[in-house]
Amino acid sequence: MISTEIRLPCGAIIKNRLVKSAMTERISNRRFEPIKGHGVLYENWSNTGAGLLITGNVVVDRKHLESAGNVCFDDEKMLPKIEPWAQAAKSNGNHVWVQISHSGRQTNKFSTTRPLAPSEIQLRKMGLFGKPKAMTEAQIQDVIKSFVKAARISKKAGFTGLQIHAAHGYLLSQFLSPTTNIRTDQWGGSIENRSRLLISILREVRKEVGADFPISVKLNSADFQKGGFTEEESLEVVKMLDKEKIDVLEISGGTYEKLAFFLMNEEGVEIRESTKKREAYFIDFARKVREVSNLPLMITGGFRSYDFCNEVLENGEVDLIGMARPFITNMEDISGFLQGEVSLLKNFVLRTGIKQFEDAAEGGFYARQLIRFSKGKKLKPNMNPLWCSMFLIFYEFRKSMVKKIS
Ligand SMILES: Cc1cc2nc3c(=O)[nH]c(=O)nc-3n(C[C@H](O)[C@H](O)[C@H](O)COP(=O)(O)O)c2cc1C
Repeated sequence: MISTEIRLPCGAIIKNRLVKSAMTERISNRRFEPIKGHGVLYENWSNTGAGLLITGNVVVDRKHLESAGNVCFDDEKMLPKIEPWAQAAKSNGNHVWVQISHSGRQTNKFSTTRPLAPSEIQLRKMGLFGKPKAMTEAQIQDVIKSFVKAARISKKAGFTGLQIHAAHGYLLSQFLSPTTNIRTDQWGGSIENRSRLLISILREVRKEVGADFPISVKLNSADFQKGGFTEEESLEVVKMLDKEKIDVLEISGGTYEKLAFFLMNEEGVEIRESTKKREAYFIDFARKVREVSNLPLMITGGFRSYDFCNEVLENGEVDLIGMARPFITNMEDISGFLQGEVSLLKNFVLRTGIKQFEDAAEGGFYARQLIRFSKGKKLKPNMNPLWCSMFLIFYEFRKSMVKKIS
């Protein structure tokens, strides 16, 4: 089943059910453009045989970065720099979609000390994030326009689809959540109002790219925080999305404050008992989504075994399998996996032994591997965990300094 094609509502066909989910690359040049390394990285991923590759966060506003190494699609003059990336990424007949995103209050202080957000509620994590300014109506309209512009650039450059990032605590997810959106105008309050920005962007982007261009939305099943965006609310948003023209709904979960999408490891730390029994940790939520929506559904997080992927596809729990980390640590095995020759993509576990550092160490480890791949180097499994845990802070600082000077 994993190797069968799928036809999307817009008419596009994806050659199989395996999707490389978004992973931020952090390797743009000082003008926020893609570099040759993007092509190197994505050509290798294209050669894995996966049906669809989704890029890491491509930001729509260079003042609101998820990483100082983000690409920003805000100027058509960049097209000659972007096109080679799109070409290399689809060299094996696969689709490649751009994940367009705005970080809102999750933009770190190296980029801006006063990020824009729905409300002035600061993200408190290691002192890295400034107090946000609540967006004015005009600023909200500008954000809608910037998503449309990024969509136009993506299509012109040769990418074959888009994903609007409304998960993981970034701007659209901040609008959806009652803990970060306490607005009293048409953009806050009821779940309809909190969804308005996502739905408005979706409609405008659809107008821009036309009926036959794939659009996906990445949505949280929940924020996993007290008073945050709940599964019930997420299902309300799914019902609204079901009435719109979208091609793939991807489910994930968590925010910077609660990194739910990252926590799957050999020990299954912090994952609910019911979910732990099955390897993909948002799969229980998929059933509830199916009850309220007919949208093609993709779940990301934890899928590792051939039999399990086929089982959930065959019994109709999901239509597409999203995977991220195995595209770093098990890249050589993906094509065998698609053919059923490799039955398990084993999780890589990196531990510092200090609980507070574990997330940062994993993040640093994967970031360093992606940078290596972009230079044509191979996976380096044995990296110092403590250095990995500090790497991103140094890297982000250095990269943002270079960009500020230019
Ligand atoms: C290095 C790295 C970077 C990531 N960057 C993004 C990103 O840019 N956008 C996004 O939506 N998710 C991002 N994620 C989350 C993944 O898409 C995915 O949801 C998560 O890793 C769980 O899937 P997995 O268990 O197959 O790795 C990232 C994950 C990793 C490991």
